[in-house]
Amino acid sequence: MLEDTEALVGRAIAEFNATADAVELERIKAQYLGKSGHLTMALKTLGKLPPDQRREAGARINSAKDRIESALAERRADIAGAALEARLAEESLDVTLPGRRRGGGGIHPVMRTWRRVEEIFGSIGFDVGDGPEIETDWYNFTALNNPLNHPARSMQDTFYVEDKDAGGLNLLLRTHTSPMQVRYARSHKPPIKVIVPGRTYRVDSDATHSPMFHQVEGLWIDENISFADLKGVYTDFLRRFFESDDLQVRFRPSYFPFTEPSAEIDMAFKSGPLKGRWLEISGAGQVHPDVVRNYGLDPERYIGFAFGSGLERLTMLRYGISDLRLFFEGDLRFLGQFN
Ligand code: PHE
Repeated sequence: MLEDTEALVGRAIAEFNATADAVELERIKAQYLGKSGHLTMALKTLGKLPPDQRREAGARINSAKDRIESALAERRADIAGAALEARLAEESLDVTLPGRRRGGGGIHPVMRTWRRVEEIFGSIGFDVGDGPEIETDWYNFTALNNPLNHPARSMQDTFYVEDKDAGGLNLLLRTHTSPMQVRYARSHKPPIKVIVPGRTYRVDSDATHSPMFHQVEGLWIDENISFADLKGVYTDFLRRFFESDDLQVRFRPSYFPFTEPSAEIDMAFKSGPLKGRWLEISGAGQVHPDVVRNYGLDPERYIGFAFGSGLERLTMLRYGISDLRLFFEGDLRFLGQFN
């Protein structure tokens, strides 16, 4: 009996130590300490022993039970500890890595230019106007001295809007922001000093033209606003927009039906990669008397200038972008560079 108990304890401890699996460990435990386990069975035989041996055998079995139980507890702790170690190693976290952030949005480069233009002209007293992109033929052409059969109409390929309910208004997508000269002037009293940035549309598509693009219209009308004012205001705007006095501005004679005289404004950088290359940046001129009349004003009294500049063009020059289509493809590799 003494040998048996000692052997049993040794066997139990060896079996516990041989497994690293918590479930298997509990299964082995049941073989020794369970309802029909070896020790339980041994305890049951006690009753059959003569009384003088019973006490001593009972003490031995209980001691064996204690040792098996404490070996079991130790093994349980070992296995749990090892499992924890393994999990810690597997789920290790490098707290020095940069966090994962939600991708932030940003402002489109053309919108940056839009805001910048508003800021610069706002600082010298220009109001900011806004108006419809679906325009009537009258505001887009006729009111701007561009009657139905005028050859200048062919300068702009127009998207017409078919609307049988428009009451013969002849709707179109505005081909420039100039109709806003008339809308704004008819709803405000002089002096009129406004810019109108906005979307414009033409049937045109290549590396430097997009069917949808942006312009900013400028208009300053008072009793004595001259071409010299146009030169001063616009040159100052360009210097502030490009943050450089290192540029040349030139007013090249041109033609628009709604201005007289008319000019194309060109600029050239005096340094940098585009140094010395003249670039067309805006149409401009003194507003034609007939157009002033369409504003609802007396051209004998009111005079001033207007200009219309491309926001994409300004943006391309500022950032050195050569293909206008990049603005509208929505490629984040391109757009991400501006934020
Ligand atoms: N509207 C003209 C264009 O789109 C530009 C312009 C505006 C010219 C104002 C003169 C005065 O080309």
